[in-house]
Amino acid sequence: MTRLGIMMLEPDTTHPFYTGMAKESKTYDVEVVIFSPLQIHPHTEWIQGYRYCTDTRCWKKDIFTIPEYIYDRTFYKDDFTSKQAKAIVQWLKNRDDLCFLGYGLPNKWTIYRHLKEQVKVSPYLPETTLIESIPEAVSLIKKEKRVIIKPFDGAHGVAVYEIQADKEQVTIRTTKKTEIVEKKMDEETLARWLESLTRKKSFILQKRLDNRDEQNRPFDLRLLLQKNEKDNWSVSCKGFRVGNQASLLTNLSAGAAAIPYEEWKKHQKHYNWTYIESELKDIIRYLPETLEEEFAPLFEIGLDIIICRDSSVWILDMNSKPGHKMLQLLAQEEIDRLHSLPLRYCKALQRKMPATGGDSS
Ligand SMILES: Nc1ncnc2c1ncn2[C@@H]1O[C@H](COP(=O)(O)OP(=O)(O)O)[C@@H](O)[C@H]1O
Ligand SMILES: [Mg+2]
Repeated sequence: MTRLGIMMLEPDTTHPFYTGMAKESKTYDVEVVIFSPLQIHPHTEWIQGYRYCTDTRCWKKDIFTIPEYIYDRTFYKDDFTSKQAKAIVQWLKNRDDLCFLGYGLPNKWTIYRHLKEQVKVSPYLPETTLIESIPEAVSLIKKEKRVIIKPFDGAHGVAVYEIQADKEQVTIRTTKKTEIVEKKMDEETLARWLESLTRKKSFILQKRLDNRDEQNRPFDLRLLLQKNEKDNWSVSCKGFRVGNQASLLTNLSAGAAAIPYEEWKKHQKHYNWTYIESELKDIIRYLPETLEEEFAPLFEIGLDIIICRDSSVWILDMNSKPGHKMLQLLAQEEIDRLHSLPLRYCKALQRKMPATGGDSS
């Protein structure tokens, strides 16, 4: 039987998406397991993980060999364990007896550098700079007046700062838990603060895009793009994420709300939706294939799209391991269909590469 392993740092057998997938597995003749790269025994390559039992409809602790197909859902942190896990995942990716549904994307800065050269998508990318020199960053902040700086490899809105430069002083705002914290300082203090912030990790700088609605809430459009068994990309789920009033982030993990596409659109009459939707069509048409050409095969992409007050459309963030929280906007039938998508895609990969399809359990 085809074996598909859902790989994550800490196996989560309570996650509705993974259990939903596992429930569909019998229909597609796929055995689903959950494991962590850290659970692979370095010598025997046996894994102590969880296997979904379709008879009892629950996850059971089990020992198995590395599954031939891998759905990589590993979210790394900045610690030693993640460093180890990253190395193991790289080793798995390099093996030609294994097949990942998607091989992931590099960090934000590398993506930007590559896509900037691609004429079909570059107009949608906000100008981005890697902070390499503090004096240059300070003069850019003074010139732009309002910028965002964020880690080059960040996620979930962590360490996203808004910096506003006025005549007399500079204001830095960021989100701690779901609260906005604000600090005012002079230019020299800003330089010292930037120096210490960027010592441990590289940061990128962008103009702050004006994505606030009339109630001063930041919002963005979240698109989940997925590939079907015929290798065609389509939008599986779309919805707006609306942050708290006067806040900075639209990440659901930072407290933003998910709102159905049509509902939000209905209330935003002053935007030029004909123009916006034609831009979105182009993005959906060209972006997935460009990313795959530039980097590696992908199965799904979570896109953060910012729509500014002047109806301009910007691709802000691209995630190859998108969260599935937006699926709450869909009807159960549609959610079930999406649960089966990784299984169907896995079977399609197997048909294309019969050499990796054997059962070695
Ligand atoms: N240039 C920007 N202008 C306005 N808001 C931004 C900008 N960059 C980031 N944000 C806000 O911060 C959030 C997180 O940034 P993002 O680039 O998506 O990184 P990640 O989600 O990986 O942390 C975005 O969803 C958006 O709400
Ligand atoms: Mg994002």
